[in-house]
Amino acid sequence: MADRKALVAGNWKMNGRRADGIALACAIAERAKEPHACDLLVCPPVTLLVPVGEALAGSGVALGGQDCHPAASGAFTGCISAEMLRDAGCSHAIVGHSERRHTCGESDADVRAKSLAAWRAGLVAIVCVGETRAEREAGIAIAVVSNQIAGSVPDGAGLDNLVIAYEPVWAIGTGLTPTIADITEMHAAIRSLVPSGTRILYGGSVNPKNAAEILALPEVDGALVGGASLKAEDFWAIAQACP
Ligand code: PGA
Repeated sequence: MADRKALVAGNWKMNGRRADGIALACAIAERAKEPHACDLLVCPPVTLLVPVGEALAGSGVALGGQDCHPAASGAFTGCISAEMLRDAGCSHAIVGHSERRHTCGESDADVRAKSLAAWRAGLVAIVCVGETRAEREAGIAIAVVSNQIAGSVPDGAGLDNLVIAYEPVWAIGTGLTPTIADITEMHAAIRSLVPSGTRILYGGSVNPKNAAEILALPEVDGALVGGASLKAEDFWAIAQACP
């Protein structure tokens, strides 16, 4: 992983009520008192940002949103702005997650606008990219992801405002992962397109069993974890797997 400190981020997606979220955050905060080699981040649903932020206070575990709207405020029913995330205690915002690209029809231009919004609010944008199964099988995975990077990452990216998460769509929530060679090849391709030293996370079915092998790769600077981030034990095991 060179000299880049790993980041292990939990994407809770649309899971958790108050009691569950607070219990999970408290358990993570407790474990974070133990030595660990990575930075930690949790991205709960919007309803839990404030109570989870309170539960994490003083733990060193950062708080992030799962999405943000390009505008700072306005008539956008159901949406959340980057400024609101910041106000709720966030330091990061995930943008362009495949579940939003594919189920909400978000384009690279949308993701780019959201990245700019995150920066405007002083947040680190975690820009997600990844190919579909059909694109991988067609041999165009690197081209697809390179195009996503070109279209989604605004000018002005730097080490303190951008994290990339490579998440093959077909690996998310499926238990499937690319080969180690494919992860390495893709991360190296991404690295050639972003500022030197940018953290590039792998995401897609990371779990306590496969984390050590993936996180040991020199090109991988951490993980974006979905399902396994909902159990404190599993999230912590992944964090502990960082070299
Ligand atoms: P998963 O999700 O770990 O459940 O595959 C990863 C993600 O969508 O960020």
